[in-house]
Amino acid sequence: MVQVKVEKAKIDQKQTSLLVIGVFENEHDFSQSKELDPIVFASIKETLENKEFRGTFGSSILVYTLGRGPMKKIMLLGLGKREKFTDESARICAGKAAQKAKELDAKEFSMLQFSNLDEGLVEAMTEGVALALYSFDKYKASNNKELPAKIDEATILINSDSPKFQSIADRANLVVEAVNFARDIANLPPNDCPPAQLASIAMSLAQEYGLKAQVVDRYELENMGMGGIVAVGKGSNNPSKLIILEYNSGVLGEGQQKPYLLVGKAVTFDTGGISIKPSEKMDEMKFDKCGGCTVLAVMRAVASMKLAVNVVGIVPSVENMPSATSYRPGDIIRMYSGKTVEVLNTDAEGRMILADALAYGIATYSPKAVIDLATLTGAAIIALGANVAAIVGTNKQLTDRLRKLSDKTGEKMWELPLYDEYHEQIKSAYADIKNIGGRPGGAITAAAFLSNFANGVPWVHIDIAGTAWTQEGTYERSYNPKGATGFGVRTLVKLLMEDEKPQPS
Ligand code: BES
Ligand code: MN
Ligand code: ZN
Repeated sequence: MVQVKVEKAKIDQKQTSLLVIGVFENEHDFSQSKELDPIVFASIKETLENKEFRGTFGSSILVYTLGRGPMKKIMLLGLGKREKFTDESARICAGKAAQKAKELDAKEFSMLQFSNLDEGLVEAMTEGVALALYSFDKYKASNNKELPAKIDEATILINSDSPKFQSIADRANLVVEAVNFARDIANLPPNDCPPAQLASIAMSLAQEYGLKAQVVDRYELENMGMGGIVAVGKGSNNPSKLIILEYNSGVLGEGQQKPYLLVGKAVTFDTGGISIKPSEKMDEMKFDKCGGCTVLAVMRAVASMKLAVNVVGIVPSVENMPSATSYRPGDIIRMYSGKTVEVLNTDAEGRMILADALAYGIATYSPKAVIDLATLTGAAIIALGANVAAIVGTNKQLTDRLRKLSDKTGEKMWELPLYDEYHEQIKSAYADIKNIGGRPGGAITAAAFLSNFANGVPWVHIDIAGTAWTQEGTYERSYNPKGATGFGVRTLVKLLMEDEKPQPS
């Protein structure tokens, strides 16, 4: 992956194939670049004063330096109106710059800091570059001419020599490596990523990063009474797996040991089962493992950053298939917690596997809080669209923290309520609860179902059905190339960083 560096700006000396300079809309003052060669400077000034380039958001123009200065080319990049500029704009613009550099076949490029220097700006610019340069080309011929050379270095030129900005970039590089890892596994086609493959990827990850790991397989799941996971996986020839990873920072004192529990849905392919889905867009159900991929990636980030927190990640993984051995509408399943569930739709499978993973994780690890991520309902997309994830929880402090962090990371989240009425919709005539609550409020009744298995522990559910991959209704962002987005990794890492206890130095 590209590495993003930070350097004190000396643009009259910076050897680079492309220097990107951000320009706010209708601002002609170009004093930040007076160290440029006078003729290059004059040429840029004229471009701006002639209004050939106005700096509208995302626009760009190339200026050739013809040997006048250490940079081969300069790209003016429109930042839009100064008063509307946020960290998210910086992320998008830096991503644009990186993609342009790639089109120009550059091996490296540099960017002048877009606006006033602060930690958020450096973080966002680093993320934008490293996220935008991601592409999934595992299945393309390596001699394919369409694949441009890789950019392996990008530099942010800043007006400070404080080392703290390089450590911000270093941290962001690690987080983006984790996001891109999530994308790499989430983009795998379903024929190459059955639950066993996901489990083996998790085991290698654990090896590499020193995580404790355990994979519970089919027969053991039966013995343990994980009725939900067993039922959903029954229709497939690819046996189900429950993946458990533990990260212990080792620096925490007595009383700070309780871990966070992260649970991620990993349905490697969701046909709907006996309640089969229509064939249109069924291919997109390879992304039904995205919640689990995010959890694996957060475990990787936390370990690579050596955060002073304890975290357990649990990923129930199944394939939901129709066959002679599938679970059926009408089945009543005894779950790990002991509660019974009447199955009225086999396509509401995510909540069945999450319920067991939640109950098991809470019973085994007594976590201080639980967060689950899942591509759980089409209804979440109906409610909020494809650019905002739905959050539902039982703990106001935790939901508020996630909401606020999501504003910073650009991983937009909005809370839906969990009033008592929703629980009425999942009451069953024959069992403790049923697995569907009808069309009204479908994203919330799914969450209401899950809340039955959270056992009073502070819990938040994030429905990433709309945001986990680029789909119909997705707003195009430079830093989210086609396919899996790795949604949630950056926000969850930020949440865990807030919880970090100061490390002894
Ligand atoms: N994985 C799907 C949810 C989904 C659908 C995510 C489309 C993204 C795009 C989930 O397993 C599912 O099928 N949910 C059903 C629930 C219903 C049967 C109550 C749904 O949303 O239709
Ligand atoms: Mn389904
Ligand atoms: Zn599903």
